[in-house]
Amino acid sequence: MNKKGNSYTIELKKIEKEAFLSLKKVETKEELENFRIAYLGRKGVLNGILRKIKDFPLEEKKISGRQANNLKRQLEENLKKRVLQFEKKTEAKKIDITLPGIKPKLGHLHPITLIREEMKGIFQELGFEIITGPEIETEYYNFEALNFPKYHPARDSFDSFYLASGILLRSHTSPVQIRVMEKRKPPLRIITTGRCFRRDAIDNSHFPIFHQMEGLMVGEGIKFSHLKGILIYFLQKIFSSEIKVRFLPAYFPFTEPSAEVSISCIFCKGFGCSSCGHSGWIEILGAGMVNPKVLRKVKYDPEKFTGFAFGMGIERITMLKYKISDIRLFWENDVRFLEQF
Ligand code: PHE
Repeated sequence: MNKKGNSYTIELKKIEKEAFLSLKKVETKEELENFRIAYLGRKGVLNGILRKIKDFPLEEKKISGRQANNLKRQLEENLKKRVLQFEKKTEAKKIDITLPGIKPKLGHLHPITLIREEMKGIFQELGFEIITGPEIETEYYNFEALNFPKYHPARDSFDSFYLASGILLRSHTSPVQIRVMEKRKPPLRIITTGRCFRRDAIDNSHFPIFHQMEGLMVGEGIKFSHLKGILIYFLQKIFSSEIKVRFLPAYFPFTEPSAEVSISCIFCKGFGCSSCGHSGWIEILGAGMVNPKVLRKVKYDPEKFTGFAFGMGIERITMLKYKISDIRLFWENDVRFLEQF
């Protein structure tokens, strides 16, 4: 083999190396097509070489021609393989739009929230305005202003968690009464809801965190009969128009007179069962006429203005409405429980 032949062999080896390298690097269909045109196209590298070889002397033409054609064939085969690979890839990417979609899981409101909103709705219909108040309170708002003097035994059942001296987590929503009355003049008709905290031992009806709804109406000529009318309307709307409502005398420092309000048992219709302790009644809320001492604290004239207030636990109402037997279920976040509402 003479020099010319050798130099073509070397050139072919070089071209072969370059060609296979760039074929390896191909990443898109367009690049693949560009590669085909550059090496195997009519005016491509290999055809260029073959054209040159045509003019070689016979012996060299034979050898170099065979080598060049070999390389051409190899490249064509490898190109085909790559084309197939690309087709497979796009096949895999294809989506079947006739398949049913994957439904995203939707959450929903917590049972406490559902009932709270229903309760608020009833009072909003009656013209009550929704107000919020802080969960961290001072002793003044949680106790003093509500006529619980220091060391008064009534503080016991409202004992809470202290964050610092004189600062605590509110043990009821009644402090919001004071905050509203301090800022506004009568007449007012408000509802507030929110979390409250007490040092209660946990059992199936007690939890140290719970929710209350509080109502307050103050104006001229507000009487106990207004309180009765509003509460009976509310309780019959939230439970059933069939229930009876009972008012018994009770004690709260901030209301005078005070009442403990019960409904006829929704499970046994008042006949007596284990849910109502065989009494036929279920205690629902505390209420009363705003104590004149409280009105004076917020600089309202008790001779001119009177009012009523009431407070109730939202957990209790939710448990009765949904027949839930254990308050702890509200806090466990077990989807098997939550899914049911
Ligand atoms: N704050 C009282 C409690 O938590 C309920 C109540 C509110 C009673 C308003 C009378 C008037 O038990």
